Amino acid sequence: MSVLVTGGAGYIGSHTVVELLNQNYEVVIVDNYSNSKPEVLNRIKKITGKDITFYEADLLDRPALEAIFEAEKIDSVIHFAGFKAVGESVDKPLAYYHNNITGTLILLDVMQAYHVKNIVFSSSATVYGMNNPSPLKEDLPTSATNPYGYTKVMIEQILRDLYVSDEEWNIALLRYFNPIGAHESGLIGEDPSGIPNNLMPYITQVAVGKLPELSVFGDDYDTPDGTGVRDYIHVVDLSKGHLKALESFEKHKGVGTYNLGTGVGYSVLDLVHTFQTTNDVKIPYQIVERRPGDVGTCYADASLAEEVLGWTAEKGLADMCRDSWKWQSNNPKGYDQ
Ligand code: NAD
Ligand code: WQD
Repeated sequence: MSVLVTGGAGYIGSHTVVELLNQNYEVVIVDNYSNSKPEVLNRIKKITGKDITFYEADLLDRPALEAIFEAEKIDSVIHFAGFKAVGESVDKPLAYYHNNITGTLILLDVMQAYHVKNIVFSSSATVYGMNNPSPLKEDLPTSATNPYGYTKVMIEQILRDLYVSDEEWNIALLRYFNPIGAHESGLIGEDPSGIPNNLMPYITQVAVGKLPELSVFGDDYDTPDGTGVRDYIHVVDLSKGHLKALESFEKHKGVGTYNLGTGVGYSVLDLVHTFQTTNDVKIPYQIVERRPGDVGTCYADASLAEEVLGWTAEKGLADMCRDSWKWQSNNPKGYDQ
């Protein structure tokens, strides 16, 4: 079985490629390196001992995409490629809508032309918006507060509409909660450009001395310690969920929407304390104002993925903290050595 992985050089994509290769799938990656580096391919090879077919191409380049489908025999697609920074999407809405939505439309059109009708899509817990109570279940109404979030809401809708038009499609909409951690080898991990927006990469850059201290965004939420609560999920567990989703197409035809989370929420300070004790490093922090657009609490009801896909997260918060630190401390400059 051959899988085209769009955005396969990125953080979640690279971890999923490792799991696919370990399970003997044939993998073809397409990525334009807009948010990743070629070195990741050497690292994947080092971990798996296997070669990967890689195309440096942009999903917006339809002829390039067609050439890939012409050259490779593709059975299924896992679609990670897209821009993902919430704040940047507010500043550059057209770039986000164009890259994420037009890129997906071109991909789907080419897939249809080549009769490839199995797709696993990277959605996000962001589609639950600001007003739904946790634990979040898949049948709650979706909404968004920023262009990035709207691209996820819209692409989910596009995929559901596609299925209505043609029931040969098999579609898994995977709503990720907060992916952190790294492969246990420490060879691949999250490598944000510039100052990280997300909590774990910020913490690891404080730990490695690149940033002086963490700003904790608010301690007056209605949570046990007042700081924001999230459902952190180890990226390797998350990656394995994609293989389960591909396998599910054998038995569960049509569209499935699944939360990929642990079902457990931890606060910002829980993460800081677990990171400190697991890794024996100090994370200086100060409490600052809330970040606009943040909800107090967000965690999954993860039961549907367990029931239908047979998938549950296995790794805990200490594993996530240990593996994030192993990646960052072994690669203080990320993939730029
Ligand atoms: P990432 O930026 O590390 O990976 C995305 C990859 O896609 C990058 O390698 C980038 O170069 C590539 N890419 C972007 N636009 C492209 C285009 N037009 N053509 C070809 N390649 C392109 O991001 P990630 O954290 O691995 O996230 C993967 C997916 O999961 C994204 O769709 C993201 O929105 C979604 N997601 C991520 C998170 C998270 O917290 N990381 C949470 C929920 C959902
Ligand atoms: C986690 C917690 C912050 C940074 C984002 C996207 C979401 C999804 C995952 C893609 C919150 C607090 C953070 C910092 C802090 N991505 N925090 N200081 O906001 O839950 O989700 O990434 O789909 O769409 O919005 O993740 O890691 O930014 O924040 O105190 O420097 O850490 O307030 O409570 P978030 P995060």
